[in-house]
Amino acid sequence: MSKIRSSSSSQYEYISKFIQNVSEDHFEEIRNSAPTELQHMQITAVEGSILRWLIATQQPTFALEIGTFVGYSTAWLAAGMQHGSTLISVEKSHERLAIAKNNLEKYNFKCEVKLYLNDGKSKEERDINLQKLLAEFGVNFGFVFCDGAKSEYMHCFQTTSKYLKKGGLFVADNVTSFHSNTSNVGNAIDAFNSHVCTNDAFDTTIIPTCDGLMIARKK
Ligand SMILES: C[S@@+](CC[C@H](N)C(=O)[O-])C[C@H]1O[C@@H](n2cnc3c(N)ncnc32)[C@H](O)[C@@H]1O
Repeated sequence: MSKIRSSSSSQYEYISKFIQNVSEDHFEEIRNSAPTELQHMQITAVEGSILRWLIATQQPTFALEIGTFVGYSTAWLAAGMQHGSTLISVEKSHERLAIAKNNLEKYNFKCEVKLYLNDGKSKEERDINLQKLLAEFGVNFGFVFCDGAKSEYMHCFQTTSKYLKKGGLFVADNVTSFHSNTSNVGNAIDAFNSHVCTNDAFDTTIIPTCDGLMIARKK
């Protein structure tokens, strides 16, 4: 695993020993299909097992992921979904989406996995494209996983939360990755964390995984 943080690596390895028995080892092939220098961008197997567990408890008919990359987190999400359900995953890079398509085609998930390109040139354009896609589907989602550009998390929350069912989960990765960082991204994530955590329409917690996983339930 390339994403282990020193403070929690022994705990991470200890957990991995146990969850490996129940995890889909073959998903590691997907993880390894990403260029080596970009593999750290993906969730870890521990986070994957948390996502699969969370989505399995929700059993959503429709779930949405923003930030497919090469399909590793998509596979973990799909593994937790039931027959007759649909997972929609959106990626902004054509090349990455093509790799994800090739990776995910090899699996017989119970749910249908639909991949979409959102290559809008600016974050505003990507947000408009996402709004159009969600409006076209015209359904409420039981689960949203947000793992695209960190500076777009606020847009992602504002747009997708309108389409989230009561009791549905909005989950976001990397919410603590920039906690001591005063860059634009650090400030954007701070504002996002504050906005969601103080939102009365949501019951929110943050799990201290290596990158911080926010879980917000729509009341
Ligand atoms: C951190 S990676 C995702 C990793 C993936 N979820 C995983 O764990 O396997 C972020 C991805 O989101 C994509 N991305 C960034 N902004 C996006 C947006 N607005 N819509 C869709 N994809 C976006 C990037 O091209 C990149 O591939």
